[in-house]
Amino acid sequence: MSNKIPSFLFVATAIIFLAACRNEPQSTQSTATVTEQYREQHRPQFHFTPPKNWMNDPNGLVFYEGEYHLFYQHYPDSNVWGPMHWAHAVSRDLVRWEHLPIALYPDSLGYIFSGSAVVDWKNTSGFGEKGQPPLVAMFTYHDMEAERAGSDTRESQAIAYSLDRGRTWVKYEGNPVIPNPGKVRDFRDPKLVRDEARKQWVTTLAVGQHAELWASPDFKTWKKLSEFGADLGNHEGVWECPDFFPIKVEGTGEQKWVILQNLNPGGPNGGSAVQYFVGDFDGKNFTVDPSFLPDAQGGKAVWLDHGKDNYAGVTWSDVPDGRRLFIGWMSNWQYAQQVPTVAWRSACTLPRVLTLRNTAVGYRLFSEPVEELEALRQQLKSLEPATVKGALDLNLDSISPAQMELLLDIEPSAAARFTIELSNSKGETYRIGYDAKANQFFSDRTKAGDHSFSRDFAKQPSVAPRISTDKTVRLHLFFDAASAELFADGGATVMTEVFFPGEVFTRVKLVAEGGEVQVKEGRVWGLGRIW
Ligand code: FRU
Repeated sequence: MSNKIPSFLFVATAIIFLAACRNEPQSTQSTATVTEQYREQHRPQFHFTPPKNWMNDPNGLVFYEGEYHLFYQHYPDSNVWGPMHWAHAVSRDLVRWEHLPIALYPDSLGYIFSGSAVVDWKNTSGFGEKGQPPLVAMFTYHDMEAERAGSDTRESQAIAYSLDRGRTWVKYEGNPVIPNPGKVRDFRDPKLVRDEARKQWVTTLAVGQHAELWASPDFKTWKKLSEFGADLGNHEGVWECPDFFPIKVEGTGEQKWVILQNLNPGGPNGGSAVQYFVGDFDGKNFTVDPSFLPDAQGGKAVWLDHGKDNYAGVTWSDVPDGRRLFIGWMSNWQYAQQVPTVAWRSACTLPRVLTLRNTAVGYRLFSEPVEELEALRQQLKSLEPATVKGALDLNLDSISPAQMELLLDIEPSAAARFTIELSNSKGETYRIGYDAKANQFFSDRTKAGDHSFSRDFAKQPSVAPRISTDKTVRLHLFFDAASAELFADGGATVMTEVFFPGEVFTRVKLVAEGGEVQVKEGRVWGLGRIW
């Protein structure tokens, strides 16, 4: 027996030692535990969910050194909302996620509410070291003691920074950097963006029923630039979680700025939802495009997603290929805390690419699933072109509707209504489709399983007006255990909804009512799991 240390052992020890020195991620749990856990009833298999307990808004979305960071509102001790932390996960491809330890804990200034993060490339904050740019996060402190004492002066904005790829964070000793102006009850959710033309950081805050733009050279001192939106859009609820970013109009060199403005309640089908505004920014004021003025919209808001389950959505900062990437919380405050899952509560939407197009009805954001999701595709079934009247069983062989993607090009006759219907042996059905007469898409979960937990969950089907005037309706659909996401007409109309069937759906039918429909092309994929 040799008394020399085998060289592979030496190399392995050295790697472990070096990894420890570099502060490598320590996953909160081993992959094995995660895999066992992630098979509960209703657990999404390719959407991000917390390993356990409560999640709401996505926070701190930033790309840095090959990783997409996803922080999120989290209460680690229960499956309902409570003292808010920023939990943390990273992904290299927006498909598979690695859970990391909690990044920000509540402290004497309050709970850690929603916010954002950016890379401070030029070290304007001075937090960087040895030429390494810091990640800077900005979030809201919500002071529960002030709330309990009945004070409205309870929310302020603060910053923290990280020098180790988001693994650990230092809260700035001068916090809060934007104190509450006094008695402004809803004053939160700062979303940072770099305004390079003016060499300033801009943060957008939701303040009651309007948004405010603030500017800073260094994240520490802020001045208010302007207010936006008190007389625009929907005001049936509180404005929360704004986003503000520049984006090119597809196919042109023209640049616009967009404000995404989450609102709760007041959504197009009830409860929480994301409205948006397109306009211009001069370094101080955001001015909406005339097509977003109330008259031009018939007094209605413009929604990013018409389903009931896409809230608090915001976009990633510093994405190197310039895509504007969005993710939302796949739930709704009407029932988020009552949905029938126990181990964990709620998921994120699929990540989406937003593009801005100049359409016949004005500037519109289109949302499409990120192409990285194609890596999940497994079995493919192509559908033969067909004329359908009545019900056609799609006969998907080994593809399970529980994790499935469909791309369907369908031309309906003038009065036809077509439905993709998922069903199970309990007789439960989830139905999603398009009604040509009403010129609207619909999502119907009224018979899709348990909805006893909330009167608002399945009162009636949700609907979404169609914008496109193409003869062919293109449906891009994703189903994952307990959710449906519809990207219609290349992302012009979007619906995201969750449901809770008593057992998984096993059959898929295409149903045509009121007239026939032509299936011009159809592809269906079974999708893999990420956990
Ligand atoms: C939106 C929201 C935010 C707030 C956070 C608290 O869902 O109400 O406005 O920062 O959740 O968890």
